[in-house]
Amino acid sequence: MIRKCLFPAAGYGTRFLPATKVMPKEMLPILDRPLIQYGVEEAMEAGIKNMAIVTGRGKRALEDHFDVNYELEHQIRGTSKASLLDSIDRLIDNCTFSYTRQISMLGLGHAILTGEPLIGNEPFAVVLADDLCVGTSDGVLSQMVEVYKRFQCSIVAVEEVPITEIHKYGVVAGTMIEDDIMQVSTMVEKPMANEAPSNFAIIGRYILTPDIFQILESTKAGAGGEIQLTDALRTQAEQGKVIAYRFKGQRFDCGSPSGFVAATNHFYHLSRR
Ligand code: G1P
Repeated sequence: MIRKCLFPAAGYGTRFLPATKVMPKEMLPILDRPLIQYGVEEAMEAGIKNMAIVTGRGKRALEDHFDVNYELEHQIRGTSKASLLDSIDRLIDNCTFSYTRQISMLGLGHAILTGEPLIGNEPFAVVLADDLCVGTSDGVLSQMVEVYKRFQCSIVAVEEVPITEIHKYGVVAGTMIEDDIMQVSTMVEKPMANEAPSNFAIIGRYILTPDIFQILESTKAGAGGEIQLTDALRTQAEQGKVIAYRFKGQRFDCGSPSGFVAATNHFYHLSRR
């Protein structure tokens, strides 16, 4: 039912300069796989086959990663190393990848709107590759697809964060209608701690209904002077059309050095089991 996943991937990754001077931040590796590959794997696990990537200048490594590399494959064919490409080959064989470029970086909302020609008029998932998510059993996007099936409206993944961290996030407020499900009434992007309506922070997983595009077209720049997805979602929330889902699992903020190291350790320990 959710067939497409949008990956906004045009940002500069300034927090990791100079590593990201010429290399897209989405290509930074956690152990043996680049960040974006984890996101694509999560989408595929949720039954999604069409990956739509919003790229920008200097991001061509992303396209090359999700393609064959004949010379390399020729070199390692028949050796013990050939299996090292299994995880990426699985994605290339089972998914399609389409790309569009964001010409100017005007914010997450603008990046989503840039992806409209790749999505069209259907509900779709969004993955921010910086947020690396590990589900308790099912992946986080799989869990959200199940929530979407029930509510048929936009779904945002949330987690509770310390109030001292809340200014880094989009924040939701509303009524808990089940243990992990909130009917959202309003939301705000990067509030100061004393203005935050709750400590439920949005993390980088969404399912959006396609009316979001029309709303984004008339959304003015908000926090940080950027066109914010959170502001467009607030319009849907005010119409009772947004559910926040407290996912079961763990999320690593790989846009920050500490989250990046924690994710690396997590996958290192997994690989040693
Ligand atoms: C974006 C969103 C924000 C969300 C966050 C999750 O912010 O605008 O609402 O909470 O991702 O990682 P960014 O981290 O890109 O500033």
